[in-house]
Amino acid sequence: MHKTHTCGELRESHVGQTVTLAGWVNRRRDQGGLIFLDLRDRWGLVQVVIDEAENPTAHAVAHTVRSEYVLQVVGTVRRRPAGTENPDLPTGDIDIVADSIVLLNESKVPPFLINREENIDEARRMQYRYLDLRRPAMRDNIILRHRTIKFLRDHLDAAGFVEIETPILFKTTPEGARDFLVPSRLQPGKFYALPQSPQQLKQLLMVAGFEKYFQIARCFRDEDLRGDRQPEFTQLDMELSFVEREDMLQFMEAMVLALAKAVVPEKTIKYQPLRRLTYTEAMEKYGSDKPDLRYDLEAVDVTALAAQSAFPIFQQAAQAGRPIKVLRAPGLHAKRDNPAELLTGEGLKRLMKELEDLVKTVGAKGLAYMALPLDENGEVKGPIGKYFSVEQKAALFEQTGARPGDILMFISDKPEVVYASVDKLRRHIADLLDLADPNVLDFAWIIDFPMFYWDEENQRWDPSQHMFTMPMPEDVPMLESEPGKVRGSQYDLICNGYEVGGGSIRIHERALQEKIFPLIGQTMEHAREQFGHMLEAFEYGAPPHGGMAWGIDRLVMIFAGAPNIREVIAFPKTQAGGDAMAHAPSEPEPKQLQELYIQVLPVPKKDDDTKS
Ligand code: AMO
Repeated sequence: MHKTHTCGELRESHVGQTVTLAGWVNRRRDQGGLIFLDLRDRWGLVQVVIDEAENPTAHAVAHTVRSEYVLQVVGTVRRRPAGTENPDLPTGDIDIVADSIVLLNESKVPPFLINREENIDEARRMQYRYLDLRRPAMRDNIILRHRTIKFLRDHLDAAGFVEIETPILFKTTPEGARDFLVPSRLQPGKFYALPQSPQQLKQLLMVAGFEKYFQIARCFRDEDLRGDRQPEFTQLDMELSFVEREDMLQFMEAMVLALAKAVVPEKTIKYQPLRRLTYTEAMEKYGSDKPDLRYDLEAVDVTALAAQSAFPIFQQAAQAGRPIKVLRAPGLHAKRDNPAELLTGEGLKRLMKELEDLVKTVGAKGLAYMALPLDENGEVKGPIGKYFSVEQKAALFEQTGARPGDILMFISDKPEVVYASVDKLRRHIADLLDLADPNVLDFAWIIDFPMFYWDEENQRWDPSQHMFTMPMPEDVPMLESEPGKVRGSQYDLICNGYEVGGGSIRIHERALQEKIFPLIGQTMEHAREQFGHMLEAFEYGAPPHGGMAWGIDRLVMIFAGAPNIREVIAFPKTQAGGDAMAHAPSEPEPKQLQELYIQVLPVPKKDDDTKS
């Protein structure tokens, strides 16, 4: 071994011991006769001192080293001279007096600083990811990920689950995204699909009698990237037999709380037991099925009241059956740096224009508002105040819980536009007012989802989760008559504004499963071709079962307080879905294509896209 100790573990109790360390030069300070090296490994930093007078050979080596050189140092642990301790460093009470230094490898000057926290261009970080991962913040994220997965494995093992791997080369497992296809050389012209999730396979493992399955499963979805979405990502995938929805909610809830307490004990958990919201409640109050519940900001339906005002747009909206909702932004009318003063007229206009532009991105036509004064004698500002009588205003303020200095924002449109606007505004106002506490976790359940939503473009119902979800038993009779009213036995786990998990009780009977296909626009012929193996399996004693999958990347991102999941994945894909380090995807050798009988059509240039 190149080392007897890690750089991070040495303390005063080691004083007097001879140790061998190995790691990277984090920093070098050359003071002529004395050179100080901070040596870094995965566990931390320690200072090495090389005195020319005492050890000229080691000093000569130390003189040549630069940041990121790899060294082995043999030396003696010493208490630092009084007054030179570094309280910011766990090893700050001691240093190592070097006896010998062996240069194990040199390093070019890194393309960015590894020893300092600074904003580095992400493209550079991706290109040199192996250097990016040397930075302590990234190292900590990756280790947090490891601890999260380790906890889950141990927890599930103790609860009697079996970890089972399922194939990556498989057949379409639709979860609403495009499949990644892999051509088969042995069966030219045929393709495997990479699993969007192990959904069918885990259900088949229930038919196989395993009863409690889990897997840390890699999933592949060819969809546009976002901060919380990668084309390949990791799920904690689970399936259990002989369970009902309540069993699932309770088991999962206990596990997520235990996980958070174990790996991020410093965070506060807002709801214990977890809050449960129905889909409808979440949409009506927060405009989203994954609202950030760390802050309140609830939309209030004021349709009845606003319809009585003299504002023609509200009257028309109410007549047309469109909802009118108010979102109250507490204290937003006051100056951020001085809450005792209101924004200037210009300042208010600018703010409201910014918020209006925001809701216009999701289809809203405008954003009416009332900005309240700081005391009772002040006037309500905003274009619509004049349409409300004094009594109507008082009733409105009462209904919305308005207080001095608040701004009430009115949204009236088709329900989808109202929801999307409320969601956008909530997130933006929370940012402006700094309402989302990064040290709080607001795990909650969303339940009672509609089983299907209407796909206008394709004129058919689409499953809101996937086609194997069991309808709520009491809603089964409506399947054919009113599919839009059927609720699925689906449950989503949300946290801090993200969906971190989703699952459901499954259909386990062929006849019921076969009813779903025509509803979602699939011919029976196609369904049997794609999912015949599932339908057949259901005829061999399939037990009632249900399951869930957690998005590991998203969970760890939230635990780490990271802004996107790329920060918690060792080698993520860039926005364009590529690997900036190895330059994947890349063009295959012509011979590889020949073997697969594949010919690549000319790819239209971006500029030509509009012409074609
Ligand atoms: P679902 O599609 O909801 O369910 O996925 C489960 C969880 O996986 C995470 N997730 C993603 N994370 C990163 N990048 C992506 N592209 C991505 N897509 C999804 C989310 C999500 O909540 N088979 C079902 C589960 C089941 O019913 O048991 C499924 O995959 O956190």
